[in-house]
Amino acid sequence: MAATNAAYDDIAEQYKDSKKMDFREFVEHHTLHQVLAKTHPDLGPALPQPWLPIKEPAILDLACGEGIYSRAMKRVGAREVLGVDISREMVALAEKAEAAEPLGCQFVVGDASKLDLGVEHEGRYDIVLAMWLLNYAENSEQLEGMVASAFKCLKPGGRLIGINDWPGNPLESYQLYQPYGFVKVAGDAPRQPASTFEWRITLPDQVHRPTPYTLNPKPRALSPQLLALSPKPQALNPEP
Ligand SMILES: C[S@@+](CC[C@H](N)C(=O)[O-])C[C@H]1O[C@@H](n2cnc3c(N)ncnc32)[C@H](O)[C@@H]1O
Repeated sequence: MAATNAAYDDIAEQYKDSKKMDFREFVEHHTLHQVLAKTHPDLGPALPQPWLPIKEPAILDLACGEGIYSRAMKRVGAREVLGVDISREMVALAEKAEAAEPLGCQFVVGDASKLDLGVEHEGRYDIVLAMWLLNYAENSEQLEGMVASAFKCLKPGGRLIGINDWPGNPLESYQLYQPYGFVKVAGDAPRQPASTFEWRITLPDQVHRPTPYTLNPKPRALSPQLLALSPKPQALNPEP
């Protein structure tokens, strides 16, 4: 069926809970803010709210999950937002959030690595979001498929914006994130094509899930060329 199976069907609620963690708000959301700001030629990091780079953009949110960023984009002025996710349970959570507080986002189940939304979606979007999507490509064909799906749906000059795990992250760093509520656990061959790792998350209620909380349950493929191109991260202070 897809680049991954719908593994998030089994962890949809836990994943939704993980979005309440501080690092989501202060690192992840903030980083998206910064990246969006940088796409605007005239605005720097001090971009005022609302912080969309262009007025009333149309946004396609690939791997939308429970719709957290779809809805955030709508709140700050997106004209239209379509969220796509391979997991029916994640889409069901997104639709539940819309039913509880309608903002006008649409959600559909779909595989971003071979997306076929119909011709009316081709060249339609100013921004395609891919927040934690590309790490689900198991091989270069799927990775290309994801990028091709985004390209097909973007207007000329539109932007693909996402956040992803850094594949070159050295093993020594994997435990340093504990103060921020998660650790990474390497599979047997990290930093090799198709090596695996897990994110194990401590949820805000401080209940540590005894079973591995696997956000990246399937092998991923990263070519040495892609690893070489990856930007080097800034050092992370291990102290809380
Ligand atoms: C880590 S979650 C991120 C969700 C959301 N973007 C966020 O930042 O909260 C990854 C999501 O990617 C979805 N996913 C994985 N592979 C996908 C694919 N090929 N097409 C669409 N969604 C996919 C999963 O079902 C899951 O909801």
